[in-house]
Amino acid sequence: MSQQAEQAGGPADGVLGGVLIIDFGAQYCQLIARRIRELGVYSRITVPARAMFTLKHMRPKAIILSGGPCSVYADDAPTLDPAVLEEGVPVLGICYGLQWLAQHTGGEVLAAQSGAEYGRTELQPIDTSDLLDGVRQDGIVWMSHGDKVQKLGPGFEVLARSEPCPFAVVGDRKRKLFGLQFHPEVHHTVDGQRILENFVLRVASCDNDWNPGNLAERKVQAIKDLVGEQGEVVLGLSGGVDSSVAAVLMHRAIGNRLHCVFVDNGLLRQGEREGVEELFRDHYHMDLKVVDGADRFLSQLKGIDDPEQKRKIIGRIFVEIFEEESKAYDNADFLGQGTLYPDVIESVAAHGGATSTIKSHHNVGGLPEHMKMQLVEPLRDLFKDEVRALGREIGLPSTLVDRQPFPGPGLAVRCLGEVTVEKLEPLRQADAIVREEIESRDLHKDLWQYFAVYVPQKTVGVKGDARVYQDVCIIRLVSSQDAMTADWETLPTDVMRRVSSRILNEVDGFARVCLDISSKPPGTIEWE
Ligand code: XMP
Repeated sequence: MSQQAEQAGGPADGVLGGVLIIDFGAQYCQLIARRIRELGVYSRITVPARAMFTLKHMRPKAIILSGGPCSVYADDAPTLDPAVLEEGVPVLGICYGLQWLAQHTGGEVLAAQSGAEYGRTELQPIDTSDLLDGVRQDGIVWMSHGDKVQKLGPGFEVLARSEPCPFAVVGDRKRKLFGLQFHPEVHHTVDGQRILENFVLRVASCDNDWNPGNLAERKVQAIKDLVGEQGEVVLGLSGGVDSSVAAVLMHRAIGNRLHCVFVDNGLLRQGEREGVEELFRDHYHMDLKVVDGADRFLSQLKGIDDPEQKRKIIGRIFVEIFEEESKAYDNADFLGQGTLYPDVIESVAAHGGATSTIKSHHNVGGLPEHMKMQLVEPLRDLFKDEVRALGREIGLPSTLVDRQPFPGPGLAVRCLGEVTVEKLEPLRQADAIVREEIESRDLHKDLWQYFAVYVPQKTVGVKGDARVYQDVCIIRLVSSQDAMTADWETLPTDVMRRVSSRILNEVDGFARVCLDISSKPPGTIEWE
């Protein structure tokens, strides 16, 4: 098991109490964790094989058994030590979690016969005294299951039913074991959050004082403890939210024993390198090395027009440069990374293994695994929005904390075909215009990302009475919650008009400006 996976199941986060979510391979597991944290309660996810270990170290006040894609009768059904039920910790089983619970408490589960039940159904609560307090009659709940519970074990009673499902909510109050056949975490389930709240705060009496903004001091102390009095850390700073928050926390903990390396790959947006230098070197007085790698990246990208090859080349050169540079800090035995919780969860996912690769992602934080340095990852128990809250708390400017995501391979994936300086320059200018027009009107609050793309397709135009034969600039504006899905967006007509006219007049290289109106899926957010 990798070091990451080891830590993910272990006490690395150092938080005690809260809710332990045991992942049976659920599609919605991260969503459950987020919903619990929205209640102000710490939550973390572990795989069934590590549940007992994590239980002992984390000492949770409640356990949630997630759903999962398997039948409890399948050969590869995830198994969990039933001893988790003997710890006196309240348990809520969701979908597969309920079926597993029924199976291990003397009930019976009927294997899927006439196909699975998917979609909405109406819930009829029978007993609303605790778990279902405040839950409406006939409120919509979201079901998605094959097997179903047929008989309850001793001590269990039915708390709610639905038309297709006589055991929609069940519970053994004495042992504080509960189960839901539907998914409370998805927003289609109207009183889902209420049910989770009742379970976590009423049934399990969890403390609801979790607040990512208050974490700074604890994080700083944890870094001090790990790195010690003498240790030095090298951190690849990208200027994005994660590595920036990680850098500020580490700098507070160990001062100039933190060495930041920023690689200018020549694929950055306008003003990006200067912004990083100004904030981290001039304002925070960090030890920041800026490596000018533009020529090296661009020369190795010469003649390459395949998107995957471009991504791989950029990722490889980044590692090479980072390794070369970090040799200068030969006292450093720690590598700082801005790894987030979703990355950790993915590395220990119980099921689903390798999903097909759509794009080879390049993250500054994720690459140099073979460098044999000990990792310092202060954000590994946080979701992105929690990192933003922490960033605000430690005083990072909102222009940085709330900034739109920018991919590791930079403008290369927005500059279609071969990447050249001749294409990058107009792209950079057009992108700056898009950002300027949107941000100056505060329109970016509703957008997940907003940028320009260079499409090397010559079209005919006319500028100042003369024929031009130039390329196409695409404007990409999307809204999204998590980048997994996205909707295309537009801007008020007058702003759109201004963006288009500024690009056509101020930038030399485009004869046409178009708006991308593709959602994801089937489109992706970036063009390559
Ligand atoms: P796609 O294009 O797959 O992008 O819809 C989803 C999100 O990921 C960002 N993205 C990346 N981020 N390294 C990153 O750190 C990458 O290689 C990378 N490629 C895409 C993209 O901007 C969007 O937010």
